[in-house]
Amino acid sequence: MTTSLWVGAVFVLATVPLTGRLASQPPAAAPGRPLYLAHCATCHGTSGRGDGPMAQYLRVPPANLASIAARNKGVFPASTIQRIVDGRQMLTLHGSAMPIWGDAFSPAGSAAENEAAAAKIRALVTYLESIQDRSSE
Ligand code: HEC
Repeated sequence: MTTSLWVGAVFVLATVPLTGRLASQPPAAAPGRPLYLAHCATCHGTSGRGDGPMAQYLRVPPANLASIAARNKGVFPASTIQRIVDGRQMLTLHGSAMPIWGDAFSPAGSAAENEAAAAKIRALVTYLESIQDRSSE
């Protein structure tokens, strides 16, 4: 079935880091920015607005991560976003390519390893909060 090939290609491409683009970006706003660029920007774009190079290949478009607060009455729902990123809260759209990051960032290892993984997800959520587009409020 071609679907599994397609999913495999998405996974491989999604894990290619965008390090070549780092130089043109503004200074890091949070420690989560390098994680974001390495794991999320291929789909969501370096600005977070859903315009990464993978977006054109996805049936379900990557969300604009800079407008989360604006779409939620100006409030950034940090705990909900944390649950989406670590996979505890599934996204509802069928056919979405949004990966579950709880596995990647949560090695079934020592308490210290698990805490390090949780800290990475918290850093990502803090970073997403820092890129919220406040101009429309
Ligand atoms: C393979 C492409 C891809 C990658 C890589 C990816 N995402 Fe997504 N993401 C999506 C898609 C597609 C959606 C929207 C579809 C859906 O709702 O299921 C989405 C939705 C989201 C949402 C929900 C936004 C909202 O407004 O509800 C969050 C938060 C999110 N992604 C964060 C991340 C983070 C953080 C990373 C990196 C750790 C990441 N994504 C990596 C494709 C991707």
